[in-house]
Amino acid sequence: MKAKIYLETHGCQMNVADSTRATKRLSSEGFQFVQSYDDADIVILNTCSIRARAESKVFNRLGQINHNTIGKAKIYGVMGCVAQLEGEELFRRSTMLDFVCGTGAIDRLPSLVSRILSGERKVLDTGQRLSNENWDLQPADHDTNHTAFVPIIEGCNKFCSYCIVPFSRGREISRPAVEIIKEVTNLRDSGFKEVQLIGQNVNSYRPKTNEGLEEFAGATPFIRLLKAVAATGTNRIKFTTSFPRDFHAGIVEAMNEYQNLCNWVHLPVQSGSDVILKAMRRGYKSADYLDKVAAIHNSHRNVALTTDIIVGFPGENEDDFTSTLDLLKQCNFHGAYIFKYSERPGTRAANMDDDVADEVKTERFQQVENLQREVQIKIYGSYIGTKQMVLVKGISARSEADVFGHSTCNKVINFKGGTDLVGRVVEVKVVAAKHNSLYGELAH
Ligand code: 5AD
Ligand code: SF4
Repeated sequence: MKAKIYLETHGCQMNVADSTRATKRLSSEGFQFVQSYDDADIVILNTCSIRARAESKVFNRLGQINHNTIGKAKIYGVMGCVAQLEGEELFRRSTMLDFVCGTGAIDRLPSLVSRILSGERKVLDTGQRLSNENWDLQPADHDTNHTAFVPIIEGCNKFCSYCIVPFSRGREISRPAVEIIKEVTNLRDSGFKEVQLIGQNVNSYRPKTNEGLEEFAGATPFIRLLKAVAATGTNRIKFTTSFPRDFHAGIVEAMNEYQNLCNWVHLPVQSGSDVILKAMRRGYKSADYLDKVAAIHNSHRNVALTTDIIVGFPGENEDDFTSTLDLLKQCNFHGAYIFKYSERPGTRAANMDDDVADEVKTERFQQVENLQREVQIKIYGSYIGTKQMVLVKGISARSEADVFGHSTCNKVINFKGGTDLVGRVVEVKVVAAKHNSLYGELAH
């Protein structure tokens, strides 16, 4: 019998997609996946390095699993961003580790695992992706609640000064459009109701050829791709994350034209201060960002806009921070992920003085959180009385009699219903709202 594998995924959707890909590759070699590390012969952690805390979690988690399974022989491996960045060093930091598989080596994971099973130890692969690599990762073997993540671009060329991603994921590589369209069509045919096109910067998509996009007009390959994917007739299409500088009006026009392009845009602004944006090397000023927001709000559809904010970047003073609060007031974000700046070794910002005290970062974090909560109470409240199309994802954690799902504008909606609804798209009338979720009833 082949070894049993437990794979635990931390971090972003790209890691989730990579885990799906790893699962598919390893399953096709006969490996079986289990839900608990207790039952596994091989434990793999897919890791995130975006902030220091995410990285330290890897070592805590490895230690914890090791401690809980004392006396049982297990093989341990690390994949993902920490694997790519730390490489060989991981074997020194965590002596229990048997293999390290970088972000470019997922397709070679089955051979890494076989080498371990035939007795080799400390196997490392942080090499590049193969040039003729197979991006295909569907259909997923595990239940994804009828949503599939489809990577369209990997890596990042932007080098924002605080960010580790260009180092952990390498330069941008766009996946051929024909392959994406084929995969989305297959997903549609196998009953998936929603696809999310994913990438660090989806709208920087630039494939080597226009094959597959010939019939579709647009100022950029991403706009053409959106239309081509929409034309497959897939029920719901979401895309994330968008980079502000590459966010062209044609994206909103495509959303206006195709109803199955969902009315949600995630557009990280990071800061409202031009001084800080420059130090972050984001390539836009707050006024440029506001222009993009105006274009989104001009859509005849009610497009939900969400963002990311970093507080306490080196040099951020009270005026800079006030500019961020002002921008938040102007944008009416439906959601904001807020982060305290975390120094990442090897980035440009790591050479700057991390001079905002942690208490100040915490205080600013809370101010953004409080302001955003006020904004969201109004926005979420405005949905009461509306009808939303909801993709039902599962039974609600709070009550067995309720199910939850996501609207096209990416809001969580809870309502009374049973497991028979899971995986279906249903119309729900919103009757109540909190700042982060909606409550409704099935519309008949
Ligand atoms: N410190 C804090 N937040 C960061 N992010 C990226 N790098 C850092 C860092 N060094 C945030 C950004 C990005 C999101 C995915 O994580 O807001 O948009
Ligand atoms: Fe990081 Fe900037 Fe690239 Fe986003 S665009 S992944 S923040 S370097």
